Amino acid sequence: MYRSHNCGELRESHIGSEVTLAGWVQTVRKFGAITFVDLRDRYGITQLLLGESMASFLDENPLGREFVIQAKGTVASRSNKNPNIETGDIEIIVSSCVVLNKSAVPPFTIQDDTDGGDDLRMKYRFLDLRRNAVKKNLELRYNVNRSVRNYLHEKGFMDIETPFLIKSTPEGARDFVVPSRMNPGQFYALPQSPQTFKQLLMVSGYDRYYQIVKCFRDEDLRADRQPEFTQIDCEMAFVEQEDVLQMFENLIRRVFKDVKNIDYTEGIERMTWEDAMWQFGNDKPDIRFGMKIANLKSAFLKGGKIEATGELINGTGFGVFDNAETVLAIAAPGCSEYTRKQTDELTEWVKRPQIGMQGLVYIKCNADGTYKSSVDKFYTEDKLKAIADAAGAKAGDLVLILAGKEERTRKATSELRLEMGKKLDFRKDDEFKLLWVLDFPLFEYAEEENRWVARHHPFTSPKPDHINIMINNSPVIENADKYLEHPYATIKANAYDMVLNGNEIGGGSIRIYQRALQEKMFDALGMTTEEALHKFGFLLGAFEYGAPPHGGLAFGFDRLCSILGGSESIRDFIAFPKNNAGRDVMLDAPSTIDDKQFVELQIKLNLSDKA
Ligand code: AMO
Repeated sequence: MYRSHNCGELRESHIGSEVTLAGWVQTVRKFGAITFVDLRDRYGITQLLLGESMASFLDENPLGREFVIQAKGTVASRSNKNPNIETGDIEIIVSSCVVLNKSAVPPFTIQDDTDGGDDLRMKYRFLDLRRNAVKKNLELRYNVNRSVRNYLHEKGFMDIETPFLIKSTPEGARDFVVPSRMNPGQFYALPQSPQTFKQLLMVSGYDRYYQIVKCFRDEDLRADRQPEFTQIDCEMAFVEQEDVLQMFENLIRRVFKDVKNIDYTEGIERMTWEDAMWQFGNDKPDIRFGMKIANLKSAFLKGGKIEATGELINGTGFGVFDNAETVLAIAAPGCSEYTRKQTDELTEWVKRPQIGMQGLVYIKCNADGTYKSSVDKFYTEDKLKAIADAAGAKAGDLVLILAGKEERTRKATSELRLEMGKKLDFRKDDEFKLLWVLDFPLFEYAEEENRWVARHHPFTSPKPDHINIMINNSPVIENADKYLEHPYATIKANAYDMVLNGNEIGGGSIRIYQRALQEKMFDALGMTTEEALHKFGFLLGAFEYGAPPHGGLAFGFDRLCSILGGSESIRDFIAFPKNNAGRDVMLDAPSTIDDKQFVELQIKLNLSDKA
């Protein structure tokens, strides 16, 4: 027996017991004839006291950080109690000790506040994982996993595995491909998600499926994106959108309760995609705070409603507004007393290349009812008041206005809103606000190819009363500049995203389940019949054999965990993540392969000099 207890377990009630502990040496402190060792394992830290009787052991076995030792001894009350650790009331008076394994000096300190930089910690991830901060994240991940499985099991969902070696049908992200030795010149792809398999399972009659499953996407990485990530992937048959929304908002409520002990009993707000874009400038609004965007000039989406007209700001000779495609504003509450330095800082912030604006206009709505702005030369106080009113500002607020090209200005205003939300402490890690975004457009216009692409994926159904628009109109876009006037631009999808604190944590849709409509969809995306059959013949075929109506969704498991854990980076919640260049720096992967492997695969490299 290596141990009788773990290092987080012993309390005052154990005083007098003979125990054996095993673990890692966190610190060694010598005070005259007495040596204190902090012994750590997954469960905590226990102080060992090695007195004079252990002197010869210590002489022969000098203990270093991260040595693995086994210590036998008696639990005793600690004179100098440590309220910061759970075992802080006791210590072990060690009677015998064994070094089970030595350790090289670790390249960084294995403590909450480590001195190790990101790359170093990733290279020695097995040591980084010993740190409490990382361990807590993995524990949270496991708790979310258990909570999800319990809920879905109770609701009759069956966990069914689907293959990883599948067929390449890139749509959206790029596929990772795997060469087949047995089929020279042919490649598998790793699944971007089990989408078509879960739909086939519905055809097979497994009407409630789920899987906590790896997905692979060769796309540019960000803090919330990894090339391999995990989804909580779900599908249900005989459901309408409302059934799916209810089932999965209750799943998230359950996770909140189980993992964070939060009773999320309030209703989950629902917002159309159009409102999200209009009022928040993006399709995943953080609704922990207001500060909605006001359109002072034009609609960013033709065919959408216009909230205010150009009359407010045009024609005063201020070229920045007069000539801009769009002018958008937010009202930052209580910021009218911002100093010149503070407004200058905000101006610099919007000029950063990532935001890309030329400048920032502000109006201070003073508490005494007067207005002061950076464009006083061009606008009378009455006009400033009218603009501030249109932006929803009250006395004491600061109106921030951006002008320029529609798309960029909308994105920039959205970012500025989030930045102000952060500055004003409206975006607290421990406050959670869920939102469903509904009624997404079915199609998105791909400028480079002058064609429609599926905004979600090609299996998403149009809203029932929009099906005819698709059937009765050709997808061909005659005039690229006027693509928004094409009937396809108005088609809405039976699709939904779940948003948590401004992050898309999940998305799904009610699917197409009839062959004719699915064929029409492929046609709309510019696929020939042969291409559609080559890529998705199996699914079209399956739809001939009694496919039930179905729908589902997938949550980003890593993202959900990171938000619940209060971190922006999903890497902190993945045991062995990749860095931003998609590398595993511990394994040093990806890497070259042996010549022999190339020969077996019948593959020759053709790297250009630049590669
Ligand atoms: P979607 O592509 O929206 O839907 O993915 C579902 C959720 O997965 C998360 N996610 C990611 N997380 C980390 N790294 C990535 N690279 C990454 N990409 C996506 C997001 C996202 O909301 N088959 C459909 C689901 C369905 O229709 O049922 C799908 O994959 O949180």
